[in-house]
Amino acid sequence: MAKVQRTQVGIVGAGPAGLVLSHLLHLHGIESIVLENRSRHYVEERVRAGVLEQGTVDLLTDIGLGERMKREGLVHYGIELRFNGQSHRIDFRELTGGKGITIYAQAEVVKDLNNARIAAGGQVLFEVENVTVQALDSPKPRIHYRKDGADYEVHCDFIAGCDGFHGICRPSIPSGVLTDYERVYPFGWLGILAQAPPSSDELIYTYHEHGFALLSMRTPQISRLYLQCQPDEDINGWSDEKIWRELRTRLATQDGWKLTEGAVLQKGVTGMRSFVVEPMHYGRLYLAGDSAHIVPPTGAKGLNLAVSDVQILARALEQYYLKGSRQLLDRYSEICLRRVWKVQRFSWWMTSMLHRFPDENPFDRRRQLAELDYVTSSEAAARTLAENYVGLPLD
Ligand code: FAD
Ligand code: PHB
Repeated sequence: MAKVQRTQVGIVGAGPAGLVLSHLLHLHGIESIVLENRSRHYVEERVRAGVLEQGTVDLLTDIGLGERMKREGLVHYGIELRFNGQSHRIDFRELTGGKGITIYAQAEVVKDLNNARIAAGGQVLFEVENVTVQALDSPKPRIHYRKDGADYEVHCDFIAGCDGFHGICRPSIPSGVLTDYERVYPFGWLGILAQAPPSSDELIYTYHEHGFALLSMRTPQISRLYLQCQPDEDINGWSDEKIWRELRTRLATQDGWKLTEGAVLQKGVTGMRSFVVEPMHYGRLYLAGDSAHIVPPTGAKGLNLAVSDVQILARALEQYYLKGSRQLLDRYSEICLRRVWKVQRFSWWMTSMLHRFPDENPFDRRRQLAELDYVTSSEAAARTLAENYVGLPLD
């Protein structure tokens, strides 16, 4: 017999979406249980996103998670676009009325969130197995799982599917309910984390004949760098020396700028896709973050979008529990999707402008270069990039 647990909101997944949701609900006096199939160590060490929008920073600060982020995060007020061997700065502060972004690794955000949840007596259960969600269209949905050899059944009012793109929540929705919108890109990113002080104060997005390259960072001692590669690139074919050589080539400028190199601490290949499901809920199951949508990383939006979804979901659940109204819950999907599609558009646009495509022709290349020239020479075009990059308002 499964042991029965009871909570108000059952949350599947302890990524940024699940943990921020759980913490926001706690601050509104709403109980939740978070179920995560990986270990705490694994989720806290996973190398992923690094750019936080101003709105994400503000939210994390408001919920008491700002201290370490403020101390260790790197605030940037611009990025560089590099093409034809020249750099052009997009000045966010000037173009957006003072806004910026913060470089603070997703893994650090997740550590801060886990610590906050645990300090507040929150239930975040790691290494659970065989998670299934049931009775989604009934008033009492359930989550089943197994932990340490015992079976459990969580009875809840609502389930939040925060279990990422490969999770079980989205596929548990009966077929025919959701519509998928998808574009898979014919390239991936080879990413490295390197023990090397960043060679630039700000991120550098580069368009080069050999393909896209990005210089990013995690701390004043650690660089994060990416190269456009084949979607199924074999990482074993890339020695550290070959990676550095290719980065040097793609990032080279006409004025002799130098790339700082160092020991490669981690490397991997990520595929690129744009994906959205509509609607983002079914019965009492609400999808949030990567379980509902994926963006290519060129706009640095995945984590930020996950956080804005759960901000909206938390408000809707608060309205339900404190005021007895389902009005916002009923509009959850519509409100999120409006923002999701704008972010999809921006991420697709950045990706299309900066990558080489296998089916492109010389016209396409000239058009990409004209677009880069336009964005870096027209204030109106630069402002469009800047306001999207620092983050669109929530509503
Ligand atoms: P996730 O962070 O994926 O969290 C989902 C959680 O659910 C995970 O902890 C997972 O272990 C858990 N889970 C899955 N299945 C189950 C199950 N059956 N039962 C219980 N738990 C389950 N974005 C950027 O902006 N820049 C980047 O450089 C970047 N790099 C990325 C690299 C990789 C390899 C990946 C996969 C994503 C990257 N992203 C990047 C995207 C960004 O990290 C995500 O958008 C963000 O993590 C979304 O948060 P989330 O909480 O929705 O999902
Ligand atoms: C990162 O630092 O990992 C990063 C930064 C900007 C992006 C994508 C990834 O657009």
